[in-house]
Amino acid sequence: MADRLLDSDLGVRWLPVADGDELQRTAYLRILDAAERAIRERGNFIIVLSGGNTPRGVYRMLRDAHADWASCNVYFGDERCVPAGKGERNSTMAADVWLAHVPIPKDRVHPIPGELGANAAALEYAATLRTVGDFDLVLLGLGEDGHTASLFPNHEWGSGPDAPDVLAIFDAPKPLPQRVSMSAARLSRAREVLFLIAGESKRDAISQWRSGANLPATAIQPNAGVDVLITSALLQHRA
Ligand code: 6PG
Repeated sequence: MADRLLDSDLGVRWLPVADGDELQRTAYLRILDAAERAIRERGNFIIVLSGGNTPRGVYRMLRDAHADWASCNVYFGDERCVPAGKGERNSTMAADVWLAHVPIPKDRVHPIPGELGANAAALEYAATLRTVGDFDLVLLGLGEDGHTASLFPNHEWGSGPDAPDVLAIFDAPKPLPQRVSMSAARLSRAREVLFLIAGESKRDAISQWRSGANLPATAIQPNAGVDVLITSALLQHRA
């Protein structure tokens, strides 16, 4: 990995990698390391997954990893409101490429019940989270507009102290419009937050983030700050 750049005042550690392959390998190792540490220290690993294309290859690698799957608990940062099993669902993608292929107990995987519609699903997922403490690791992506999970610019992000854990979203600016998302406050209750960012389309959002803009991604503020694994070209000025 290239040298670590630290924007300490924003609580962001930019971790440049050469390309998508290195990003996947590095993320894979970080996830296994976080799992091993959490299980050793607390007997349990609580991870929150993101959707999107960027983590797909990482999830695929985890399918062949040797881990204490029976001690892992999987939650989702956001979901689209379509029936269970539909390809648009983040829970379907994660199951197809990873979770259905490892011996993780079914009752330790907690999909957001998007099939109920945004309001009911948000309420039910908030109830699911009520007894869950801080997450060990939250994985997030970044959209071209600075969105993360299903928290979009000019929408409610749930970043205040009284924010609910889960938000119902009805007019997301990208398909599908009806979604459910953990709030920025709940996503921030984590020992580690790791963004995975690749692709030229993210360049503008990155430069806005680095110049201090108020974006959904910047509302994720865990005590320990966030780590951003990013292909290094996105941190360089366009030629
Ligand atoms: C989702 C996400 C979303 C995603 C970003 C980046 O459910 O789609 O959680 O926030 O992470 O849009 O997506 P890519 O990895 O596909 O660029």
